[in-house]
Amino acid sequence: MKYTKPRGTQDILPPDVYLWRRVETVFENTFEAYGYEPIRTPIFEHTDVFLRSVGEATDIVSKEMYTFVDRGGRSVTLRPENTAAVIRAYLENGLHRRGGITRLCYTGPMFRYDRPQSGRYRQFHQVGLEAIGSDNPVVDAETIDVVMTALEALGFDSLAVKLNSVGCAECRKPYGGVLRRELERLKGRLCEDCVGRTDKNPMRVFDCKKCEEVKDELPSISDHLCPACADHFARVKSHLDLLERRYEIDSRLVRGLDYYTRTTFEILHGSLGAQNALCGGGRYDDLVEQCGGPPTPAVGFSAGLERIISVLPEGSPARKAGRNAPDFYVACADENAAPRVVLVARGLRTLGTVEVDVSMRVLKTQLRQAERALARIAVIVESASPLHVKWRDMANREQIDVEDGRLLDVAREHFTDKRSG
Ligand code: HAM
Repeated sequence: MKYTKPRGTQDILPPDVYLWRRVETVFENTFEAYGYEPIRTPIFEHTDVFLRSVGEATDIVSKEMYTFVDRGGRSVTLRPENTAAVIRAYLENGLHRRGGITRLCYTGPMFRYDRPQSGRYRQFHQVGLEAIGSDNPVVDAETIDVVMTALEALGFDSLAVKLNSVGCAECRKPYGGVLRRELERLKGRLCEDCVGRTDKNPMRVFDCKKCEEVKDELPSISDHLCPACADHFARVKSHLDLLERRYEIDSRLVRGLDYYTRTTFEILHGSLGAQNALCGGGRYDDLVEQCGGPPTPAVGFSAGLERIISVLPEGSPARKAGRNAPDFYVACADENAAPRVVLVARGLRTLGTVEVDVSMRVLKTQLRQAERALARIAVIVESASPLHVKWRDMANREQIDVEDGRLLDVAREHFTDKRSG
């Protein structure tokens, strides 16, 4: 074999693509039920879109972006996430002028140059949504509720919601000082990266896999919230209580992207090991303004489809059906019959789905293939009978000759009988 797929990517083959589609449909329908409208943005953006929004000190920007210079000398990046791109599109297309809350949802591939392992890929797929234009805690609770509703519709029943508030710029000023002092004290136990982070972006330490032990000794932002953020957090929790959504407070949950303010959350699945987050999200009240727009609060989440599908419960409704079986399987008995096969198939396609077999294998083999495809009717075209085709009901294997000119009538009668019977 000459070529293999790039490391960290996956081929999703036909039987699995049906499962993927059904999972995506459950999310799309749930999003629609909450008033979200779909948006599609480019797979690549100007690198700047991600630099300051996701944050230069984050692993995503500093280590994981697929960035290259295009032939016009511009730096572009395959999107590592979609929030920054959605905000770029929201502003560029003047959606902010609509007023009120703009609710947008999306699905598609994202790219991060990370070390591949189970549940972590270099190309992966997210579904997600962004609610732009409200700082009301009702919307934070709605965001968690919508993803939980979709995951429940997929059959998940014991997921953990981790919840935190990372405050706003106001509460981070005094907290940053407290945190830096503690990090200085614990400097000898920090990894090299975190020593560098202490000055630039101390909260990033909470996102470091190497400094787990130190994290327990650090003061948490949720103990240093300003009154407005504390009140906001309290109201998010009470709305979640009203919705009967359970959550656990995790005061170290700062998330791996810099744009978050106030609410952050993740939804975890027990059997996924280290890469156990099915979904992550939170509020980002400063991002729209940072991107050159008017002050506009927002909140959203994204969920990883590879991870969701890898732990999809056995009884999930998304697992039920396979591919849609063809209504007609047109078998071609010999090369000279091929022109009639083309016409017969075109006629039948006005009534249903048609798969054509011109493999020129012996008829028996073609019929076996029709059976495997779960076709309802096989139509056999052979040059030996130039005016008739053979109509074979695959359910009872009854076979009759039908004149070409009557074929569509017979097909119509057959399906009407089946429906009324
Ligand atoms: P994130 O936590 O970086 O957040 O990614 C969200 C989800 O994408 C993760 O929980 C995980 O399921 C999946 N994911 C991330 N990286 C990988 C990977 N390398 N391989 C497989 N799956 C992965 C965001 O991307 C934010 N944009 C979420 C957000 C939207 N916040 C506000 N709005």
